[in-house]
Amino acid sequence: MSKTFYITTPIYYPSGKFHIGTAYCEVLTDSIKKYKKLRGFDTFMLTGLDEHGQKIETVAKKNGLSNQEHVDNMAQEAKKLWKLMDIDYDYFIRTTDEKHCKAVEKIVTKFLENGDIYKGVYEDWYCMPCENYFTSTQLIDGKCPDCGREVQKMKEEAYFFNMKKYESWLKDFYNKNPNFIVPESRKNEIFKNFIDPGLEDLCISRSTFDWGIPMPNDKKHVLYVWLDALTNYITALGYMSDDETLFNKYWPADLQIVGKEIIRFHGIYWPIFLHALGLEQPKKIYAHSWIVMKDGKMSKSVGNVIYPETLISRYSLDATKYYLLRFMNYSQDSIFTPEDFVQRYNFDLCNDLSNLLNRTIAMVNKYLNGTIVEYIGSLNEFDKSLEECSSIQIKKFVEKMENIEVSDALKEIWVLISRTNKYIDETQPWILAKDESKKEELASTMYHLVESLRKIAILIYPFMKNTSENMFNQLGIEDESLKCWDSINDYTLLKNITVVKKGIPIFMRLDMDKEVQYIKDNMKC
Ligand code: ME8
Ligand code: MG
Repeated sequence: MSKTFYITTPIYYPSGKFHIGTAYCEVLTDSIKKYKKLRGFDTFMLTGLDEHGQKIETVAKKNGLSNQEHVDNMAQEAKKLWKLMDIDYDYFIRTTDEKHCKAVEKIVTKFLENGDIYKGVYEDWYCMPCENYFTSTQLIDGKCPDCGREVQKMKEEAYFFNMKKYESWLKDFYNKNPNFIVPESRKNEIFKNFIDPGLEDLCISRSTFDWGIPMPNDKKHVLYVWLDALTNYITALGYMSDDETLFNKYWPADLQIVGKEIIRFHGIYWPIFLHALGLEQPKKIYAHSWIVMKDGKMSKSVGNVIYPETLISRYSLDATKYYLLRFMNYSQDSIFTPEDFVQRYNFDLCNDLSNLLNRTIAMVNKYLNGTIVEYIGSLNEFDKSLEECSSIQIKKFVEKMENIEVSDALKEIWVLISRTNKYIDETQPWILAKDESKKEELASTMYHLVESLRKIAILIYPFMKNTSENMFNQLGIEDESLKCWDSINDYTLLKNITVVKKGIPIFMRLDMDKEVQYIKDNMKC
């Protein structure tokens, strides 16, 4: 039986149209899942929506819908978008699902029985959009430290989770698992701001609205979102339901991906909830940074929001995914600009990748009648050096993927692409073709080009599935065993491969000014 790999995204608030920030997180998670699947893991990817809370109530009212109608619509929207983006999730959780609500009730009951929850009065600074209280010391310039928006003083009777009780356990857990959160800088931030100053108990209920799961012991109160939300990662697998098969198989999660603004919840409250339930901790939490615009955060009122559909419909899904994954830095916010998008499209996808494929197919047709017969050996220094480069790049690629450095992993693939382009200049097939005595060398050169492209097609598969399949088709590689990861390091496998007669460019050069304008126009609406 193969090893399991359970990966999760945050569950998004269905409060508005999903923009490229949300899409980025989804694509990142999906490509890691696809990579692990390619590597032979039994994978399970979870995504979904965080449907309760005051914010949702407010949006639904604004749209003239019932809460349930609103979240039903949004769940359709999300599923439609993830289908368009070929997101290969295994389960889509909605926190309004009956299975989830029932399990959460049981979880809360268990906490109540164990004395983890008590009733008190809460008064503090409240950020409405984040649905979260802050102490005055946590505020930054009097505003919400997570989103920078206005906060207001609020007071209410509420239930609390006794976090203090688990403080020393949490510190000990981090001592033993220093790499639980990556990048390390994110861990340091929550230590500095929340753990070192001493944990505060967490307010887990509200009586000011009712769009939520009722407290099982006190129906005046509903759970407020974080306990409801975080537990999705286990209830989705059937924890505390009649069928815990998936839970037993996949928990603990191997990788939980979240945005940096919610690392506090995933790095403090989540481990404590799990510990209080007597469950194992996830192996790793990766807090990714944000996509920002030149003028700051994406915001509808500023008119700088970019939606995935805009890019996908005009430039293809693969170009969109490539860009998102490539431009986003491992640990720092990254600025989206239309200029950068078009430039990367033209350089990386069109010049480097698409042209390499096209030139190769044209040459194999011209010089070898379209057919690569078999591996002859590495006949000259260029062949050897290309073979060496590919094995080094594959190794580096794997290292980067294992560290969740996806942008860098893509860079490593592009090193091989550039090296292969350079190989054409070095070997000068058009000169070899003029010399009858160089026939074998010419055949070997063509072999190496097709073989390098085969490896590239395998490497890009998790990120650009369509392009990968297109490349295999044009190269005439049909045998599944030549498309799988196990074959990637072997250089000798190709036999009687016939490429297509006429190559079709996979990416066509874009007009910079025109396309920059197009993207800008679509950001305003
Ligand atoms: O916080 N750049 O939901 P949410 C990159 N429901 N990623 C971005 C982004 C941006 N500009 N904007 C959003 C919630 N994201 C809670 C989560 S989990 C138990 C509950 C991504 O709709 C990023 O991954 O605000 C972020 O963490 C997530 O969307 C938050 O989505
Ligand atoms: Mg948020």
